[in-house]
Amino acid sequence: MAAKIIDGKAISAAVKEQVRAEIERDKIKAGLAVVIVGDDPASRVYVNNKKKACELCGIQSFEYALPAETEQNQLLELIDTLNADKNVNGILVQLPLPDHFDEKAVIERISPLKDVDAFHESNVGKIMIGNYAFLPCTPAGCMELIHSTGVDVAGKECVVIGRSNIVGKPMAMLLLHENGTVTVCHSKTKNLTEVCRRADILVAAVGRPNFVTADMVKDGAVVIDVGINRLENGKLCGDVKFDEVSEKAAYITPVPGGVGPMTIAMLMKNTLTAARIQNS
Ligand code: GUN
Repeated sequence: MAAKIIDGKAISAAVKEQVRAEIERDKIKAGLAVVIVGDDPASRVYVNNKKKACELCGIQSFEYALPAETEQNQLLELIDTLNADKNVNGILVQLPLPDHFDEKAVIERISPLKDVDAFHESNVGKIMIGNYAFLPCTPAGCMELIHSTGVDVAGKECVVIGRSNIVGKPMAMLLLHENGTVTVCHSKTKNLTEVCRRADILVAAVGRPNFVTADMVKDGAVVIDVGINRLENGKLCGDVKFDEVSEKAAYITPVPGGVGPMTIAMLMKNTLTAARIQNS
C-alpha cells in the first residue's frame, strides 16, 4: 500500500502562523541575529529562508554576512556584541564554518539564553534531562511530523540512523522522552538492515543519498527523512529511497518539503520563547 505523505510544508506553515499570532496577540518584540561566514551556497539558501520566516512571523532579523577570511576572534567579538544587544533575543551562527574556525568555541560563546539552535553544552545537557526551554530545531520538527500522523511514540520501536550532535543524538532523546524504545545506529552498527526493519518509527539522518532502501523498512512504518543531499544533476534527494520505501511505509516525509521547512518553523518558535524569557 502506498504511504501517506507527511506534508512538512503545510505543518511548518501552521507552526509559523501560531508563532505569528502569538507575537501579535501578546505584542512581543522578538529579534533573531543570523551570522553566516563565507559563501557556501547551501548555507546561503538556509539563511535566506530563515530571514523570510522571520518576516512572516513578525520577528526582526539581523543578518551578519562575514567574509570567509574572518578571524576566530572577530567572530567571537561579534557574538559578545550580540549577547549584550537587547534587541537580539536569539543568535544563530550558520554551520559549517570555514575550516580555520573552532566551531565548538564559537557555539560555547553564545549566551545559553540566546542559543536558539540549542547547540550550547548547557542546553544540550538540559535536553538530556528533559528540562529545556529550547527545542533542538530539527529533531523537534521531526517530532511534530510524527505527531501529525497520530501514531503514539510510547512503546514503539524507534530507530535513528546517525549519531550527530545536531540531529541523531537529540532525536534519540526526544523519542525517549515520549517513551519510545530507541536504538541509535551508525557506521559501526552490525546488521543495520535487520535493526532498521524492527522500527515502527525510522528516522534517517545519515547524509547519504538513497541510503535507506525498502528491504530496511517494516511494513506500515513511519519514515522520517532528515537528509538533504544535492545530486550531480542539481536535484535534492533525501537519505531514503523514496519511490520504493513509500510503497512499504504507512507514512513518509518527502525531500524537499518534509523535515527541512520544520527546522525553520521550530527556530521561529525558539526565538519567540527566547523573547518571552528575556522580556519577563
Ligand atoms: N547547519 C545545518 N543545519 C543547521 C542548523 O540547524 N543550525 C545552524 N546554525 N547551522 C546549521
